[in-house]
Amino acid sequence: MAEATLSMARPITLLQPAGLEIGAGAISKLGEWAGAFSRVFVVAMPPTEGFVERIGLAGELQVFVDLPPEPDLPAVERVLAAARAFKPDLVIGLGGGSVMDVAKLVAVLWDSSETILDVVGPGKVKGRRTALAQVPTTSGTGSEAGIRALVTNPETLAKLAIESQFMLADLAILDPELTYSVPSAVTAATGVDALAHCVEAFTNIKAHPLIDGYARLGIELVGRYLARAVADGSDTEARAGMMLASYYGGICLGPVNTAAGHALAYPLGTRLKLPHGLANAIIFPHVLAFNQPAQPEKTAEIMALLGLPAAENPEAVLAGAMQFCRQLGVEMGLGAHGAEGAALPDWAVEAHAIRRLMDNNPRTMTAEDVLAIYQAALN
Ligand SMILES: [Fe+2]
Repeated sequence: MAEATLSMARPITLLQPAGLEIGAGAISKLGEWAGAFSRVFVVAMPPTEGFVERIGLAGELQVFVDLPPEPDLPAVERVLAAARAFKPDLVIGLGGGSVMDVAKLVAVLWDSSETILDVVGPGKVKGRRTALAQVPTTSGTGSEAGIRALVTNPETLAKLAIESQFMLADLAILDPELTYSVPSAVTAATGVDALAHCVEAFTNIKAHPLIDGYARLGIELVGRYLARAVADGSDTEARAGMMLASYYGGICLGPVNTAAGHALAYPLGTRLKLPHGLANAIIFPHVLAFNQPAQPEKTAEIMALLGLPAAENPEAVLAGAMQFCRQLGVEMGLGAHGAEGAALPDWAVEAHAIRRLMDNNPRTMTAEDVLAIYQAALN
């Protein structure tokens, strides 16, 4: 009771995009809204470039599609250089999390004297004069809802986190039709990433009742719709449900953020080159189980919201959550993705050092605990 009172009393700030359009065909609303702008710079990827036509943009248009999957500093500098030459009054992010993160940085930095390194950390960005719209084409990162962008440092391969209220979109468009063509394996992995955002915020030491509400909604939507979206990519209701789950996950990332799950997933992305969603899907059951003793009631609630059997101990939680991911078709063994046991101790030290996330975890996790999880996830 005391704990609940305390968390309710803790001040937090919740910011959301000023406008949100959701539903089949919602992308056409962007064209109407964008009519007020004359120079539109779109950050996209080759698979999402074709959606530009559906927006129905008037005026001068430049589409930048030359981004690597995990953009590092030089890659983002190249986009910024293109935007500086073009001088946009509207920036649109049309793609997955990396694309939307880069769009945020372009919108705040293209006409600024600050470099990316100048604005790493919370609250360093001075302002934004260019409009920003975000259009996710996968359901997972929830970047369209948030104030954060991650850029890979090419020297350390660590993620630099830039966080600013000025990077929040003026308009976010959640159109499930844009996700029809996402392959089932990607749908499954990115869907578990959205789930992980909700769960890691819900069980976080910084959890707050306001954010818990969004987390519950997101977890319930994943339980209801993810398997359907994996089974039939053109199931519009399921795709819309997952877009909303992803958005709620994005809201959870703002004031609370993730914890050990994402910290453990990062070395799998940078060292093993696993996509972010897949890395998180593999780690998700292990960290949910590890944290169960510290958050027994919330863990029980998560299992129930996902429609999984009640589980009273870490072993049962692990079995239930593993089954959930495997039924979605996710290959859960790190070994099957090319990991070798000898590399795991270094990855464990690296994950353990990501204190901005590890310090949020409800149960203290040592570097040995991290290694034990990697070893358990190997096969
Ligand atoms: Fe994530």
